[in-house]
Amino acid sequence: MVTRAKAGQSGSPIVVLVVHGPNLNLLGEREPEVYGRTRLVDIDKELKQLGRELEMKVETFQSNSEGAIVDRIQQARGKCDVLLINPGAYTHTSVAIRDAIAAVNIPLIEVHLSNVYRREPFRHHSTIADIAHGRIMGFGAESYSLALRAARTIAQESRRQSG
Ligand code: DQA
Repeated sequence: MVTRAKAGQSGSPIVVLVVHGPNLNLLGEREPEVYGRTRLVDIDKELKQLGRELEMKVETFQSNSEGAIVDRIQQARGKCDVLLINPGAYTHTSVAIRDAIAAVNIPLIEVHLSNVYRREPFRHHSTIADIAHGRIMGFGAESYSLALRAARTIAQESRRQSG
């Protein structure tokens, strides 16, 4: 795929875009019994540090607005190897975010802090689950670092396949 090949040129660092959806800016204060006490700024800092250790470039983005998330995903077209996204509540409702991900054709990992299947039934549906390479949930802030390690494997595999 042209878009993937550009991001995945051998020799260039693997680029991972991490997108956080609505209310995740309140992590640390928001329902800590569900989401833990780690703040978003600390999650992002740790992901960038882990990225450096794994020789990957990690870009992070958070918005409470569906349109802004769609815009950021579109901007990643051809510039990013793997998209790691926690769409927050939009996970359960957003066709627009799903369509944006499908349009940019970047391998996707869906991430959640909580195990949504242990929660209310309306959280059991995801509009992006079937277009995700994989889903990681239920490990609190560690869900993101597990996903970043998986992103590296996916990017390496996809670069090998595109030669
Ligand atoms: C969440 C789960 C969603 O149901 C919820 O709306 C969130 C966070 C999680 O990370 O566990 O905002 O995506």
